[in-house]
Amino acid sequence: MTGKLVVGITGASGAIYAVRFLRYAAQHFAQVMVIASEHALSVARTELGLDVDARNLSSQRLLGTEYANIHFLNPKDYFTPPASGSFRHDGMVVIPCSMGTAGRIAHGVSDDLLTRSADVCLKERRKLILVVRETPLNLIHLRTLTALTEAGAVVLPASPSFYSRPYTLEEAVDTVVARVLQQLGVEQQIVGQWQVDE
Ligand SMILES: Cc1cc2nc3c(=O)[nH]c(=O)nc-3n(C[C@H](O)[C@H](O)[C@H](O)COP(=O)(O)O)c2cc1C
Repeated sequence: MTGKLVVGITGASGAIYAVRFLRYAAQHFAQVMVIASEHALSVARTELGLDVDARNLSSQRLLGTEYANIHFLNPKDYFTPPASGSFRHDGMVVIPCSMGTAGRIAHGVSDDLLTRSADVCLKERRKLILVVRETPLNLIHLRTLTALTEAGAVVLPASPSFYSRPYTLEEAVDTVVARVLQQLGVEQQIVGQWQVDE
């Protein structure tokens, strides 16, 4: 395995997207650096019933397994590699991405390590994938998503597809996770390509 990936998790609904994505990411990237907002952990407690907070955060608590290649970074600490453009990595995914965080990134408000790392991706022209989740969208959200796309980010809504006939919640979630992995250039076997025999 090679490659370094930065993953942001925010307080949008859909903590399960982060959990499912990180489990796959750990299999494909040598190093996965995770920045979880305070609200991300509170949503993970609410939605998944996890006993996780900023003090005890670990892959064991969030993902149910220890992964040696997943490192959790302090969102308030700028003295970490992804805060600087001099650190080369293979991209950043924010999953799920709240409209608050999307708005801050779109307007260059680098007020924590997550938004700063995303800002660095845009300025260094690195891949930035934002798995946004909100419904319905107001005009501010729409303008935010347009600005992010214009700045080079990939807006990939947490919008599951059903043509693969997902049966469980996890399978539905994985239709989104598969698209994120594809965007990162990862060969994934989770969901096949439409009308292609593999
Ligand atoms: C259970 C729950 C679900 C939420 N779902 C969403 C959502 O789907 N999208 C969104 O933009 N914000 C959602 N929010 C609000 C965000 O958590 C809130 O705006 C927060 O400030 C986001 O901070 P962060 O982006 O730093 O994580 C939700 C909050 C809670 C408690």
